[in-house]
Amino acid sequence: MRIATVVSQCFCHRAPQCSSSKLTLFSPSKINLFLRVVRRREDGYHDLASLFHVIDLGDSMEFAPVAGSGSDELTCNVADIPTDGSNLVIKALNLFRERTGTQQRFKVHLDKKVPHGAGLGGGSANAATTLWAANELCGRPATNEQLLDWSGAIGSDISVFFSRGAAYCTGRGEIVEDVEPPLPLTTPLLLVKPPVGLSTPAVFRALDLARRSTADPLELLRGLAARGATEPELCVNDLEQPAFDVLPSLAQLKQRLISESDGRFSAVFMTGSGSTIVCAGSDEAPGFLGQPDCADLFVTPARLTAREAGAWYQPSKALAGVS
Ligand code: C5P
Repeated sequence: MRIATVVSQCFCHRAPQCSSSKLTLFSPSKINLFLRVVRRREDGYHDLASLFHVIDLGDSMEFAPVAGSGSDELTCNVADIPTDGSNLVIKALNLFRERTGTQQRFKVHLDKKVPHGAGLGGGSANAATTLWAANELCGRPATNEQLLDWSGAIGSDISVFFSRGAAYCTGRGEIVEDVEPPLPLTTPLLLVKPPVGLSTPAVFRALDLARRSTADPLELLRGLAARGATEPELCVNDLEQPAFDVLPSLAQLKQRLISESDGRFSAVFMTGSGSTIVCAGSDEAPGFLGQPDCADLFVTPARLTAREAGAWYQPSKALAGVS
């Protein structure tokens, strides 16, 4: 089993309880290689058709069971992340207890690297990693499929992390179909995010359905699998229009990344509801990003990643020491 973890003294087998163990896991993030909005639903959500890919930009999370009948305890290295019941980590622990019947409480430390309001699914990955960790520490009462299925109850973007890494997602995003990674995992990516994040509900509210792409998502899927991210029109994101309406400077940033990069990016596109712009084909930052007016941008190289069956995602060796 390849898990980036140390699991010691887990005494539980069938009963979902654990007396003494500790687990450290990598909590990755994701990009949307394309994102089509199919329709607005009556429950306020939108049906999507999107090719998600897990990437190796990630947080580190430590988990330990709490002895006796204490409560969950979440700590985080970033002060403005809420650590109460509103955090998806605590929601994931509550969900795990509700579905498995365990009473087990956990101590969790979250070391965040993935920015929020970024369209990178960092918080959703924290929730998925928490479900995986709780399941490991309690002797695996649930299957991967159950964790995937349960996770849709607390967010739309969590389920994708129970794929192998590349997934065609429909519904709210919670219907996950594993696909072969459409691009080599070594494809260089550069992520660029302005300091201001975007609120997902606000971006969906600003979406003008009449201005969506008309591309068939299955054609996009086939095109990416056959030709990679070599054509910008394959990496469409219907949420760019509302995100750029909400934050016009983001459209300018995308334009600058295209026009001031000497053509080294094969595609430049926003991920999720933004505000991260993904540049594919090179991880070399264009010179303008080094100027003082760009000093507050988040800029990092990244790679696509995948996991083996029965194992969780691992931190990348390819980028060790790069950022
Ligand atoms: O499910 P999640 O909590 O991530 O969604 C946050 C918000 O984003 C939802 O309340 C909804 O406003 C919007 N959303 C949507 N359609 C989706 C996913 C999210 O409208 N498929």
